[in-house]
Amino acid sequence: MTKICVIGTGYVGLVTGTCFADLGNDVVCLDVDETRISKLKNGIMPIYEPGLEQLVAQNVRAGRLVFTTNYPDAVKDTEIAFIAVGTPSGVDGEADLQYVRSAAEAIADLVDTPIIVVNKSTVPVGTGDWVADVIKKRRGGKPLEFHVVSNPEFLREGSAINDFMNPDRVVLGSTEREAANKVAELYLTLRCPIVVTDLRTAEMIKYASNAFLATRISFINEIGNMCEEMGADVKEVARGMGLDKRIGPSFLDAGLGWGGSCFPKDVKALAHMAVLHGTHPQLLQAVMEINRNQRRRVIVKLRKALGGLNDREIGVLGLAFKPNTDDMREAPAVELIHLLQNEGAHIKAYDPQAMENAGQMFPRLTLCNNPYEVAEGVDALVLATEWNEFKQLDFERIHELMRQPIIMDGRNLWDGDRLREQGFTYYGVGRAVNGQD
Ligand code: UDX
Ligand code: UDX
Repeated sequence: MTKICVIGTGYVGLVTGTCFADLGNDVVCLDVDETRISKLKNGIMPIYEPGLEQLVAQNVRAGRLVFTTNYPDAVKDTEIAFIAVGTPSGVDGEADLQYVRSAAEAIADLVDTPIIVVNKSTVPVGTGDWVADVIKKRRGGKPLEFHVVSNPEFLREGSAINDFMNPDRVVLGSTEREAANKVAELYLTLRCPIVVTDLRTAEMIKYASNAFLATRISFINEIGNMCEEMGADVKEVARGMGLDKRIGPSFLDAGLGWGGSCFPKDVKALAHMAVLHGTHPQLLQAVMEINRNQRRRVIVKLRKALGGLNDREIGVLGLAFKPNTDDMREAPAVELIHLLQNEGAHIKAYDPQAMENAGQMFPRLTLCNNPYEVAEGVDALVLATEWNEFKQLDFERIHELMRQPIIMDGRNLWDGDRLREQGFTYYGVGRAVNGQD
């Protein structure tokens, strides 16, 4: 059992702290957001993550997990402190490290016993050394035995607990092997490969992994755009490709492209780092451009199908950046709604989990309680997030409710041929444009 402190109770910090508690450690989770902490103390989750509410309750009841806004309480006699605060994009794409700095300085101010400081947040290559400098400078010569370890997270929102408990690998980087081994002990029970390397390499593994996954998606989207012009079906192409063990089937779903709080930020940050270090990230630039264009291509199709977008009623199904989360950060739906509203369209929308966030983000959005309310009276229906509950809608009813039976399936969730038989004009992504074979 280790005394652990996790600073930042966001999508990553809260899951990380709770799972470490579930493995038997004593965990204190700190956040500077009073509301968030008081909600957590009352068993109210600040985020939607399947299974999290129950796991938090179990571990709070067992006395292994506590929440606080009080730094001294959080860091006193802790052996390992995880920094999991936000690292949002700065003005030209670089990661903003102000919150990492304030966490490191708080540790420097309050800790006098040996401690391992772990960067869990995604931070630019070189940040581990920088955190060590921040702590040293803040101590101003007062001795402190500490080491910095990079331990990037590979949690997907919506499956974060499973991804924590069944990781493909754990990555640890440090200048001090002993410190890395100490953190590795926390993960031994998960029986997965543990990669121990230096700080910069560990930090780069995280960025390179996310950038590669984003590249796969932009690749299949570029192939999809060719398929539309050449009469092929990108879903079948992906299936045929994915059976090659060297390629594999995952992250080859063409659609509106990638969003969320990680890919957009991390790909931009990596490209920014490359430029700062004198290399030209031409592939990453293309990956980002293809991704941006996926939303615009949908607008062009809709504008053409509707003969213009001004004063059109358009229904959007799904707002979160992907299913099983309420997170709308950089969600394709958000960009689509902005682009449509800029051309004078009126938007109705529904999402199983993200409605609260949507209401705050889009005051002019008509929020509906279910997909059928969205379909009522609209000129087109856009699927932006492939929630399970959208898989088998009653399309007879939808056809009656819509003003015009035009469907834009942004995630290739539905059977285009079937919908055409039911009288819809169906547009997928990377599939034959409506009416063509
Ligand atoms: C964050 C990073 O954004 C991401 O790059 C990294 O991979 C994992 O950690 P996330 O958990 O989604 O991702 O961040 P967010 O949901 O924004 O939560 C960050 C939390 O840190 C917030 O609750 C915020 O209140 C808290 N915080 C922020 C602190 O506790 N202290 C601070 O000084 C600043
Ligand atoms: C990602 C990484 O998967 C995870 O390892 C890292 O720690 C954080 O970033 P996340 O952003 O939660 O996780 O979601 P993910 O499931 O990776 O999807 C990212 C985006 O790609 C979503 O917008 C999703 O809609 C999109 N996507 C995913 C595609 O467009 N096509 C695909 O085939 C897969």
